[in-house]
Formats: sequence, C-alpha cells, structure tokens
Amino acid sequence: MTQNKTYLFANWKMYLDYDESNILANALAEKSKKFSDEIEMTVFPSALSLYPVAQTLSDVKINVGPQNIYWVDKGGYTGETSAQMFKAAGSSHALIGHSERRHLFHETNHDVRQKIEASLNAELTPVLCVGETEKERDEGKTEEIVEIQLRATLEDLNWPKDRELIVAYEPVWAIGTGNACDPAEAERMHDKIFNWIKGLAPGISPVLLYGGSVRGENVEGYLQMSHINGVLVGGSSAKLESWMEIIENSTRAVEKL
Ligand code: PGA
Repeated sequence: MTQNKTYLFANWKMYLDYDESNILANALAEKSKKFSDEIEMTVFPSALSLYPVAQTLSDVKINVGPQNIYWVDKGGYTGETSAQMFKAAGSSHALIGHSERRHLFHETNHDVRQKIEASLNAELTPVLCVGETEKERDEGKTEEIVEIQLRATLEDLNWPKDRELIVAYEPVWAIGTGNACDPAEAERMHDKIFNWIKGLAPGISPVLLYGGSVRGENVEGYLQMSHINGVLVGGSSAKLESWMEIIENSTRAVEKL
C-alpha cells in the first residue's frame, strides 16, 4: 500500500432505518477502543440518520459522510440536501458518483463533477466512485470508461493540497452480486487509476479503494495489493458481525505488511 493507513469505508446504502443505524453506530463506538490506529474508518448512513450517527461517533475517530449531496448550497430544490448542510451536521466525507446514483438515478459525469466541486467548497472530502458495467467490461471498454469518468471529474480541478483525493474503483458487476473482482485484476485497474490521477492532479498522492462484494473472507487479498489502500463495503458493512470480521481480518493484514 502506498499510504500508511488502511481505509475501511462503510456504505450503509438504504439498508438501515433510523433505529438500526443508531444501534450499529453505538455498537461501533463501543468497540472502537480496540480498533488499530492504522485503520481509518468512515461510515455513510442514510441522510435521515446522519446527524445522530455523527454525534455518536464524533468522540471515537470514526468519520461520517452522506451517500450523496446536492451541489447548490440552499434554495428551491425539493428533496435535496447540500454539501454544506451535511458538513454542518457533522460530516467530514461524502460519497460521490456511486454506481447506484449513476445507473438508478441517471447521474452524469457532469453532475458528479459539480458534486465533487461542491464537496471541496464545503470542506468535505469527496470519495469519488468509478467503475464499468458488465456490458462495458464484456466489450473490452473498462479502461476507456474509467478514464473518461476520472477525466470528466478531475481535469483542471486544482485539487487542494490539504485534502485527500480518494477514489473507489467499484466495477458495477461486482456490486452486491457476490461476484467480487479478483484482487490481481483490481490491482491492474488501480495501477492505471493511480497513473491517470498523477497526470490529472499532479503532486497529489491518491488514496485508492476497491469496492464490490468485499467480505471478511476476501478483504485481505485486496489489502495486500500495492495500490489498494482500503475498501468500500456495502452489504457486509451494514451488519455488526460481518463488519467486525472485515475489521479484524484487515487489522491482521495490516500487521503482516
Ligand atoms: P457491496 O457494495 O459491498 O454490497 O457489493 C459496495 C458498494 O456499493 O459500495
């Protein structure tokens, strides 16, 4: 790994209601004393649960962020919540361009770019998600698609030197399917992503995550790869038992490095 820390990011999606989110946050707060200092954890609860979860986790060094933001600060945008509002509610990060946003809610690369800019302006650290669909992969277009996603979002952006540039490579065909990308194949893409970002944001050393059907039993394989700094986990992060298994196995992997 190119960074000193290991990043374990939990995307709770719409799996947990208000009570369930708070129960899981409380359980993590309680267990956090035993978490290694080398693990950087961030949870992404639903917008509804974000404020109390952020309050619960504020003392225990677990970061919190929304799963999506809107790029205007305030105004007549029914149903949306701005980056600034999430910042004020205790967020430090924001998931941007998750494939479910892109494919179910038709978010474009242009939208993603506006959300990245709004996150930076609100002093949130965006976690940019990229990845190809199964069809694009079958057509041999993986590299082309991911490069377009990165270029459209990051070109000429002048990334602030004090903000981490975090990109999660999440092949769409691996998300929620149990069909995780082979770590060596993921590493090949991470190596490419690393080099594209070097060109797009000179002088910035990116943090690269893998996401897509990460489980306790396969997490170590990713963390052993030199360009994979951590994982973004959906289904297995929304249950205490499976998330703890990921934390424990990651800690073991980190100690071995
Ligand atoms: P999954 O989701 O771990 O359930 O595959 C990952 C993600 O969508 O970020």
